[in-house]
Amino acid sequence: MNVLEFFRRRFAAAIADESQRAEFADAVRPATDPKFGDYQANGSMALAKAAKRNPREIAQQIASSVDLEPLAGPPELAGPGFLNVRVRQAAIESELQKLLSDARLGLEPPAEPRTVIVDYSSPNVAKPMHVGHIRSTIIGESLARTLTALGHKVIRDNHLGDWGAQFGMILWGYKNLLEKDAYDRDPVMELARLYKEAQSRIKPAEAHEERFDKALRLRKDGKNDEAAAVAAKIAGTDGPDWETVLKEYDAASAVREAARQETARLHGGDDENRRLWAEFMPHCLKMLEVIYDRLGVRFDVQLGESFYDPMLADVVTDLEAKGLATGSEGATVCFCEATKAPMIVRKRDGAYTYATTDLATIRYRVHRWNPQQILYVVDHRQGDHFQQLFEMSRRWGFDQVDFRHVAFGTILDNQGRPLKTREGDAVGLAGILDEAVAVARGVVDENSPHLPPEERAKVAEIVGIGAVKYADLSQNRASDYKFDLAKMMAMNGNTATYIQYAYARIRSILRKSEADEAGLRSSPPAIMLGTPEERALGMKLLRLPETLDQSTVEMKPNVIADYLFTLANDFSAFYAACPVMREENAEVKRSREALCLLTGQVLKFGLSLLGIEVAERM
Ligand code: ARG
Repeated sequence: MNVLEFFRRRFAAAIADESQRAEFADAVRPATDPKFGDYQANGSMALAKAAKRNPREIAQQIASSVDLEPLAGPPELAGPGFLNVRVRQAAIESELQKLLSDARLGLEPPAEPRTVIVDYSSPNVAKPMHVGHIRSTIIGESLARTLTALGHKVIRDNHLGDWGAQFGMILWGYKNLLEKDAYDRDPVMELARLYKEAQSRIKPAEAHEERFDKALRLRKDGKNDEAAAVAAKIAGTDGPDWETVLKEYDAASAVREAARQETARLHGGDDENRRLWAEFMPHCLKMLEVIYDRLGVRFDVQLGESFYDPMLADVVTDLEAKGLATGSEGATVCFCEATKAPMIVRKRDGAYTYATTDLATIRYRVHRWNPQQILYVVDHRQGDHFQQLFEMSRRWGFDQVDFRHVAFGTILDNQGRPLKTREGDAVGLAGILDEAVAVARGVVDENSPHLPPEERAKVAEIVGIGAVKYADLSQNRASDYKFDLAKMMAMNGNTATYIQYAYARIRSILRKSEADEAGLRSSPPAIMLGTPEERALGMKLLRLPETLDQSTVEMKPNVIADYLFTLANDFSAFYAACPVMREENAEVKRSREALCLLTGQVLKFGLSLLGIEVAERM
């Protein structure tokens, strides 16, 4: 059962004015300090303000009328009008006993099940997937798992960037720089090389445009002498001379233009480019699959941008017909209230945009799945795009959908700069995972020398990948965070490693205690919470459903991570105070074994929602 929800409903029922019930229920929260009990209802102050009455009087009235049975007696009035609820020990004990035989650990089907589309990972294919995509992949996977566990219908959609300008670059590279043998041996590697090669040849065009912008514009107007003079001033004494700049610039611009034309030919339906695109795609997907397998990520659909291409013209026509898009300087744009800038849906050269594709995607998703909610797990820098997209989609008629941009911050290196490799590339994801597993191997070798080497290798994979995921998910997703492998795998602190060790320790306790696990489940014993540590642990175990609920209100996996960390702490405190295997009273021993069993189960389940595995021995 969801204990918090139970109290919210009961308090709401005790509020006479129906219009005030929701707000009062919302102000029922877990207590911030155990000395105030387990839950607090803090809504009396707001009620009093509205009615210009004394908050203590109102709280007193609610306290004497609210019915919290059988979980608690009347709440206690404190301070200016707080109502403190202490859950009855007998109630905790009987709920825990029920949990033992409940495979769902207290989760009930949702009152309003919804269909949720999670748009996540969504990398641009044919480029090495970089660390920026790791956050989307990890956070999106965790949200998908949590929503599924809560009983919602989830559609996991990898909205691949498979139609963008990177293909023009690869096509150009393929036609000009291909090493056939290398391509036959390892197409993925060769395509990645071609992409990088094209990129580095185009780079001087952008770099010079940025630095010598003014001079280049003069030259374009035919004022070459003036341009040279301006360039000399910009370059200073040790800068490149104008001739060199122009040579580099012209060469790079030519490649850029050629790549642009390859993209245009692909989009325009050119046979050869379409054929090559279709040839490249499976290789690109294979490169991604390796990463997804390793991360335990799977999608229901992978409908990339290319899938929507045939629908784009119609989207623009429809927007125009409904008066939502108009011509502006040769382009077609939507004027949005959310942001000052217009949203371009067709460029002057006739090309459609990222936004047009996203609009087509929404129309397709609504028609195919009729979702109540669509989550976009995408970098916070795309905030403006999503604001415009959501506004236009609502105005276009899809206002029944709850659109959410689940934005996240940047991963930083230990200097606080966006994480990059030495070459200046965004760090390859595969390399990061390998490094994490190598560091984990050191941790496991040191802490678990008793395990055979093959098992240590397996545990290291679980610990290394788990550490990377947990470091990400335990942060408030909106924040940036520093990527620090040593810290991520600390044995003490808010890390996956700490929780994984707590789990393995519990498994070891149950083995040594020779607990009859099947018996504990099939005929659950009476639970006895004789010490404060047992009570605290028991109460925490009952908070799983409310934790999952809360984490999906704001789409924040860190709520689950915090819960698991404090649960592992509560377990340590319990185990320090309460013997299990050496306990002489057989009933107490069984009750404590049951607490161990449940804690292990909740830790394992909770970590699985974060996409993190556990080992039975560490
Ligand atoms: N491919 C995009 C990128 O790598 C992310 C796509 C996110 N999803 C979407 N529906 N726009 O930046």
